[in-house]
Amino acid sequence: TVSARATDLLSRMTLQEKIGQLNLVTFVNENNSTNPMDDKVKAGNVGGILKSNGVKQNLRIQKIAVEQTRLGIPILFQEDVIHGYKTIFPIPLGESCSWNLTGISQTAAVAATEASAGGIRLTYAPMVDISNDPRWGRISEGAGEDPYYASLVAAARVRGFQGKDLTNANSLMACVKHFAGYGAALAGRDYSITDFSERTLREKYLPPFKAAIDAGVGSLMTAYTGIDGTPATSNQRLLKQILRKEFNFNNLIITDWETIKNLVKIGVAKDEPSAVQMAIESGIDMDMTSELFQKHLATLIKTGKVKIDVINAAVSRVLEAKFKLGLFDQPFKYLDEAREVEVSQNKDHLLIARQAARESIVLLKNDSQILPLKKNVKTIAVIGPLANRKKDLMGWWGGQYSQGKPDAVISLLEGIQKTVDPSVKVIYAEGIKLDGFEPKGLELIPAAVEASLSADIVVLAVGEEYWMSGESGSISMLNLPGAQLQLIDALAKTGKPIVSVLFNGRPYDLRALSAKSSAVVEAWFPGTMGGLAVADVLFGDYNPSGKLTVTFPYNTGQIPVFYNSKRTSHDLDSVDMKHRFANNYLDITTKPLYPFGFGLSYTNFSYSSLKVVSGNNFKDGNLQVSFVVKNTGEREGIEVAQLYIKDKVSAVIRNVKDLKGFERFSLKPGEARTIKINLTNQSLSFLDRNLKEIIEPGDFELMIGSSSEDIRLRHDFTIK
Ligand code: IFM
Repeated sequence: TVSARATDLLSRMTLQEKIGQLNLVTFVNENNSTNPMDDKVKAGNVGGILKSNGVKQNLRIQKIAVEQTRLGIPILFQEDVIHGYKTIFPIPLGESCSWNLTGISQTAAVAATEASAGGIRLTYAPMVDISNDPRWGRISEGAGEDPYYASLVAAARVRGFQGKDLTNANSLMACVKHFAGYGAALAGRDYSITDFSERTLREKYLPPFKAAIDAGVGSLMTAYTGIDGTPATSNQRLLKQILRKEFNFNNLIITDWETIKNLVKIGVAKDEPSAVQMAIESGIDMDMTSELFQKHLATLIKTGKVKIDVINAAVSRVLEAKFKLGLFDQPFKYLDEAREVEVSQNKDHLLIARQAARESIVLLKNDSQILPLKKNVKTIAVIGPLANRKKDLMGWWGGQYSQGKPDAVISLLEGIQKTVDPSVKVIYAEGIKLDGFEPKGLELIPAAVEASLSADIVVLAVGEEYWMSGESGSISMLNLPGAQLQLIDALAKTGKPIVSVLFNGRPYDLRALSAKSSAVVEAWFPGTMGGLAVADVLFGDYNPSGKLTVTFPYNTGQIPVFYNSKRTSHDLDSVDMKHRFANNYLDITTKPLYPFGFGLSYTNFSYSSLKVVSGNNFKDGNLQVSFVVKNTGEREGIEVAQLYIKDKVSAVIRNVKDLKGFERFSLKPGEARTIKINLTNQSLSFLDRNLKEIIEPGDFELMIGSSSEDIRLRHDFTIK
């Protein structure tokens, strides 16, 4: 077995060889290093490498590890394969809006195939941090604000990356991150402290990790942040008590970038050796990039400060991961330049990327059915700073760190040109310069206005540059950056119908854009095939089906705003802004601009015939819910029907509603289908005052909706 082989190998290792296995190093620090990578590897001082550069380099290094070290232990190459390696898929937040778990697994599997062909065997994904703060740039990497849905996505991504067998060619070991609560970074500034209750930790932040673990995730990364005063990397309660004992996670734990060194910076360790001792004794296995295990562990062992058993346990987990991946048996299997070329961005992968991008698009507004556009309209003005950009469509990880090439991306302008009839005149104007947050390129506005005046329809591409969200991509105001609002104002004055397309990694304040546009299409950062996918939606080759997994606030001051908030004594039934003594604002509505679960289609769906069948005692069985959905429009379309539960009376304050099930299905015009959703005990359970999971007898409300606010069917029931 894997563990017997690891134990055998461990028994033959020197202390220095053991410590080497815990050292996860990077080429990024290579320039400042007195000891270059090849020498470190040859000396047996490296267990894993991140941010390497393609298969050629990896092969050279693997040869050194396998052929020139005493025990020939292979290197575990690791990388941030977040939403694609060469073929870039939509950013994870965007992709989550598809509600298509099979599709989500599929893009992860393609990313795994391409990355493993580059010699990578472990990816730092999925990122499963829930966040309620769109100022935080990493909201783009998660699956939205709902712990139930995000858990399903987490499991789907783990299954996609890892496949059935980690030794397969389309398989990467997944690394779920960032454990835990990183998405709560105060004020939306990355790496800020977090401060939340044990209840919030367990209700909101932990469920997606548990789901990833139950799906068999091979590794986990600790967060930069801490919980209740203790950084995650030195947090024994979090790593030992909750992760190892409660969640029964026995696989590899990796730190985030230099988080061991950060224990000194943050002031919980007095010096580097203490930081090392705290980290290893808390259960850390691999030290990402600080190289402090390498520097101090041997002395800590020799002076008796750290027990060898602690090191042995960590090394075993590293070796087990390598055995599971088949690295010892075939260390060069994935280091194959021919396969790298063959599988990179092949036709099938591009088709999957186009479909994933189409499915993540959310139609937010469509007045007078202006969309879909006719392919033979006379003149289209394609305007906007993002209309002909490529790298930006790849998002932060895709644009900055993937092996994807911007040249391979299809821009919106290109997508439109490829889609419309050859007779159509497509005029392009950049409108303004989007280059950072300052307004730039206002002198370009008149040409954009002129182009619009000569067109029948304006397609306006706005949003943010790829680097504005992602890690350390925090912003304080959710207004579209640069001079984009000025451009929108000027175009609106032409009176031409405006179809706005957004490329972005986070919810923005879209009030002005939405008010001045006839249609608004949220395309996120859609990846390599983005421009074509958006054109598919604009011209009706794909009927939009995405639904938001994150709330779009009315304005920045409304943050945090999310659908599954706790009930208050002063909740409002109506959206009465002027109402005093209510849980509201006096100056703006309490409603978000676009709620969780919202997204339009080119067709309409009606809901009817809700039936709820339960046994006498729900605790012993399931609750079977059925209802009928009919496509009442003229086009085939996909609906995502959502099931929410409200617990009317409970021992602790509960959420106004919680998503507990959904179904995504396609209906032809006029077609009706009975949708069945089964609820389990867990759908009604909650954490009582002692944080113990229970089901309480009492009254519940079940809601079926087309979004969290568009509830179409309701049913009250009682649990005895
Ligand atoms: O995987 C990432 C992590 O999400 C943030 N810090 C750096 C890591 C490795 O690149």
